[in-house]
Amino acid sequence: MNTITLIQPDDWHAHLRDGLALQRTVPDLAKQFSRAICMPNLVPPVKTVEEAEAYRERIMAHVPEGVNFDPRMVLYFTDQTSPEEVKKIKASAHVNAIKLYPAGATTNSDNGVSDIRKVYAVIEQLEEQQVPLLLHGEVTHNHVDIFDREKRFLDEVLSPLLQQFPNLKLVLEHITTSEAAQFVLEQGRNVAATITPQHLLFNRNDMLVGGVKPHFYCLPILKRQTHQQTLLEVATSGNPKFFLGTDSAPHSKNAKENACGCAGCYSAPTAIELYAQAFDQVGRIDRLEGFASFFGADFYGLPRNTNTITLVNEEQIIPTSLDYLDGEQIIPLYAGKTIQWRKV
Ligand code: DOR
Ligand code: ZN
Repeated sequence: MNTITLIQPDDWHAHLRDGLALQRTVPDLAKQFSRAICMPNLVPPVKTVEEAEAYRERIMAHVPEGVNFDPRMVLYFTDQTSPEEVKKIKASAHVNAIKLYPAGATTNSDNGVSDIRKVYAVIEQLEEQQVPLLLHGEVTHNHVDIFDREKRFLDEVLSPLLQQFPNLKLVLEHITTSEAAQFVLEQGRNVAATITPQHLLFNRNDMLVGGVKPHFYCLPILKRQTHQQTLLEVATSGNPKFFLGTDSAPHSKNAKENACGCAGCYSAPTAIELYAQAFDQVGRIDRLEGFASFFGADFYGLPRNTNTITLVNEEQIIPTSLDYLDGEQIIPLYAGKTIQWRKV
């Protein structure tokens, strides 16, 4: 198959940042996707519908001429979030969900929720209004090994949460383990998961064998190959519980290649081609469209896109570096490497 045409995909998990960063991130993402869930972990975080509307305006100001892009906004869940804010989300035309970071789990998560049981009143409202709760699913206790943090979250936080709120609409973001995939499979239709390109294409050996490769470092961290294989299986299974969310997360080259490097892979410029590469590697390019263009929209209750994009089965070299901020550089995921698909 040399060419495939699919309904334009959406990215249900992306980081655009703010200010000067938008000059890079918005055009990169808008050329690939029709809609994107824009993550709220700015400094300070996007905590109210009003702040989300203002952030959306700043994003819209950077959409290139002639490109249609519809940023879907998300609030940042804090210990202070009120049940009334959930009603405002429900009434909003642009805000679709709320994101819960356990405090300290990842980049700019210090204002996250300190103990999920403290915010059950808000979660009750989310369940009632059927507003999706997006979860960074890792425990943060210092004594828990970084490779076990997602699995421990399932047992210690997610199971009790769903027992208490069985109809809560919930997305377990960027899943990285067989246990998380299995957990999602065992739940009702109200529970779904996003999967990133890096967790489909790579495992921890890619990051750690033959020298540490900081551009593969993201959170949740890449796991062993068996988990990568399970993620590939579920992503390409045609099960609508699993859909595209890049977690494209820009950090400058200096911030990544550092004694204390930041977590995040910047995949936005070639995201759909990276997913195509992963699906093709297991002979399931025919399942890409459901995963990339249908299942996320269906879960969020938004209409499917109607315009199409075309991918050609042709080699493409990912740029080694891109301009970012004022005079800085950003290294995209899989920089300098050749992939077999190209979006035209
Ligand atoms: O690798 C990551 N980077 N994981 C996250 O959860 C946050 C993100 C970021 O904002 O940089
Ligand atoms: Zn993220």
